[in-house]
Amino acid sequence: MRFQTLDTIDVSAKTVLVRADLNVPVADGQVTDTTRIDRLVPTLKEIAAKGAKVVIMSHFGRPKNGPDTKNSLRQVVAAVEQALGAPVAFAEDCVGERAVAAIAALPAGGVLILENTRFHAGEEKNDPELAKGLAALGDIYVNDAFSSAHRAHASTEGIAHLLPSAAGRLMQAELEALGKALAAPERPVAAVVGGAKISTKLDLLLNMVSKVDILILGGGMANTFLFAKGVSVGKSLCEADMADQARAIMEKAAGSGCEIVLPVDGLMAREFKANADHRVAAVTDIQDGEMMLDAGPATVELVGRKLEGAKTLVWNGPFGAFELVPFDSATNAVAAIAANLTAQGKLLSVAGGGDTVAALEHAGVAQGFSYVSTAGGAFLEWLEGKELPGVAALEKHA
Ligand code: 3PG
Ligand code: MG
Repeated sequence: MRFQTLDTIDVSAKTVLVRADLNVPVADGQVTDTTRIDRLVPTLKEIAAKGAKVVIMSHFGRPKNGPDTKNSLRQVVAAVEQALGAPVAFAEDCVGERAVAAIAALPAGGVLILENTRFHAGEEKNDPELAKGLAALGDIYVNDAFSSAHRAHASTEGIAHLLPSAAGRLMQAELEALGKALAAPERPVAAVVGGAKISTKLDLLLNMVSKVDILILGGGMANTFLFAKGVSVGKSLCEADMADQARAIMEKAAGSGCEIVLPVDGLMAREFKANADHRVAAVTDIQDGEMMLDAGPATVELVGRKLEGAKTLVWNGPFGAFELVPFDSATNAVAAIAANLTAQGKLLSVAGGGDTVAALEHAGVAQGFSYVSTAGGAFLEWLEGKELPGVAALEKHA
């Protein structure tokens, strides 16, 4: 590890500023998915148990005009208390007098959440003054927000240069899992990349073909590849103007020994809706008015064989229109195969980014993967091979 962790930094009786990602889904003032909070709890408990004051910083939503109730972190306090099993205090501001007073009132081993860092314009600008104001609140900075590490903001990047800094347990686990999956993986490495469009995943695909041995494509983006190979795709979602880019990716793959696996059959429907009438057909047999809404059983079998031959799997994005039954079938079936191989100890499986976790949870197998990242955009940027500023800032302190 090129950064400090809670094993190497002494937090005993200190005031520890923990950058968390409490940007969780909330509806009617209630947190609807506590995954990020649950995964943060071990770090909070470990630091609190050493008699430190635990001061949590986070953003929430994308407020642009200062404080508003809709984006207040007060809404998540109850969910954090529940997950932690201990009271959690709240400060109305993340810097200045109100933060200072709340920290002074916090007992050793107590946990406090500071109000949304994005209520200050300096957060997203990585303003050195805001970073200084945040750093002045504590003795040590612990970043446990891998899912925000693609942002070079005052609370994710700037502050790490001003205090002794370490990765929290969640950040550490994310980096270890991701390292095993791509930096130093057991080969062959397979990647499943699904989702609607290649235009949003161009950098990702170009990086993956140079890193993995087998690139399995699903979802709408697979249609663009089929189209680029001269297969007619009917009414299927397809970015015809991206055909050149798709061909460039296939050429790069051929040059670097990466095998690209495309669907060989699909569920063809005439309407984009749940339970739409459909038929199973080869991809070369799609009719004019039809669209492929999911990969078919022959594709699932083919992908299953590829996964059986792999040692490592990185998964991002669904295979088909997984939110519409039965067009979730291929995603469910392939995810189950991956979970099964993982359970047998034959595959290290890592998933993350965007819709992926929702798709795996829908398939009922998220628990069956070796590691499921809490990150959306940060996971994608990591797959693109980009340096994550929040991680890079920690490494400078090691
Ligand atoms: C996320 O939910 O992906 C992170 O919290 C980052 O949020 P952002 O995309 O608003 O920076
Ligand atoms: Mg995001």
